[in-house]
Amino acid sequence: MQKVIIRKTEEIENWRRNITSDINFIPTMGNLHNGHSKLISTAKNENSNINLVSIFVNPLQFDNKSDLKKYPKTIDNDIKISFANGADAIFIPNTDDIYPPNNKNIKFLKASTELSSALCGLNRIGHFDGVCTVVYRLLNIIKPKNLYLGEKDWQQLLILKHLILTKKLNVAIKSVPTQRDFDGIPLSSRNIHLSKDERKLIRFFSNELLEAKKNFQKEKKISIKEIIQKLSVKKISIEYLEHLHPYTLQNSKDEDNISILAGAIRCGETRLIDHVFLMKRSPIIAIDGPAGAGKSTVTKLIAKKLKLLYLDTGAMYRALSWLLIRENIDYKKEKELQNILKNISIIFKSNANSHQDVFINNYCVTEEIRSREISSIVSKISSIKEVRKFLVEEQRKIGKSGGLVAEGRDIGTTVFPDAELKIFLTASIDERAKRRKSDKKSKDSQVIDIHKLKELIKKRDFEDSKREISPLIKADEAIEINTDGYLINEVVDKIIDLYNDKIPKETQN
Ligand code: PAF
Repeated sequence: MQKVIIRKTEEIENWRRNITSDINFIPTMGNLHNGHSKLISTAKNENSNINLVSIFVNPLQFDNKSDLKKYPKTIDNDIKISFANGADAIFIPNTDDIYPPNNKNIKFLKASTELSSALCGLNRIGHFDGVCTVVYRLLNIIKPKNLYLGEKDWQQLLILKHLILTKKLNVAIKSVPTQRDFDGIPLSSRNIHLSKDERKLIRFFSNELLEAKKNFQKEKKISIKEIIQKLSVKKISIEYLEHLHPYTLQNSKDEDNISILAGAIRCGETRLIDHVFLMKRSPIIAIDGPAGAGKSTVTKLIAKKLKLLYLDTGAMYRALSWLLIRENIDYKKEKELQNILKNISIIFKSNANSHQDVFINNYCVTEEIRSREISSIVSKISSIKEVRKFLVEEQRKIGKSGGLVAEGRDIGTTVFPDAELKIFLTASIDERAKRRKSDKKSKDSQVIDIHKLKELIKKRDFEDSKREISPLIKADEAIEINTDGYLINEVVDKIIDLYNDKIPKETQN
């Protein structure tokens, strides 16, 4: 496809008429650096859409006229960088194109009050209104499928997500982590204004934030006061330094698993921002739902794609059921059960086929736990109070440092109620019976007639949802996905999109 430079709004419409793919849109104000290159190349590598970069210095988002005047303009170099990193088209409008003087239809927007009255919004009056106005205008002209934004401007990202939601725009935000220079400072168009000494200061500031992140991992706490003291010794002029909830930008609470430490400092004439995410543990995805909804297949693929640990809690209940049957334990007798629970260890290990084997007391039971005998008893055994208590504790131990995707029936409600993303996966009884029938691993299902399978599924649903302890119910915040008629990969991609939309990329490595 021929690479093009478009300068007029009307030309965009002609250009769009001639393309058949969806558009990835990367808005910029020019003076491109490696942070922008990363945005463009991520868009290029993520899908086969057409990539359009816009270069427009938006006057509405400058609260200070002299800042606007001295904003660096490096258009020839910007064009080179954009094309070299995968742009197919570059849109370089002038101010009258974006804001035609006599066009009364241009909407001047207000950014979310809650989100824009924190951090940068406190001192940069009207800045986020200007950002919302230009991005809304550009989205209406370009009509992209995806909008690529840097997490470096985290507050801007939240405000634009809110804008897209409230205006019901059909565009997905894809975020890219903050790109840092060799000395740890975030790449920014404003860095070129820094003198050598000023650069040293911002380096000190960024390194303090990165250090706080490391310490937080160990100690699970930070002291803003101490950081401010250290910055004051260096005579760094702090505009703000705040520890906040990462999505609401309200003060962080003790129970927040992920929070943001964000700051802005002034170095001479230049104002610079930086942040880090503080995490008590890595993120967790909880996938609950009835048997046969596709949980295992979907969860395994998500774990692989997002490089997360896969916690199959159903296999743990099956493994325990297998042992109780094999050892002939009368699990109705509390004492007998408690005795055996004291000496049980269930672990998962990856096998040579990159699948996971489940071991109970060092014996591999991956195959055996799929038998009809186990299927018919597992629901009963998993409704025993002692069993649930024991396995929930084991599961929490495995999930202590997070970084996992767990599937089961009570993950979002009981095991990890603070999971960052909760999914409730369902499917109709007909669909679930069809899937069980064609499941090669479930040997018995292949010999059972489909009507009988439906009855068994209904019975299992009833038992699971009516049991006293940890019944199968959808967690309040869980997103329900009915998988009827969807390909497995479509469901997997949907959940990964939800995860990426919620969890900062910066916390994912
Ligand atoms: O982040 C920026 O460079 C600008 O705020 C944006 C999103 C291009 C709008 O002018």
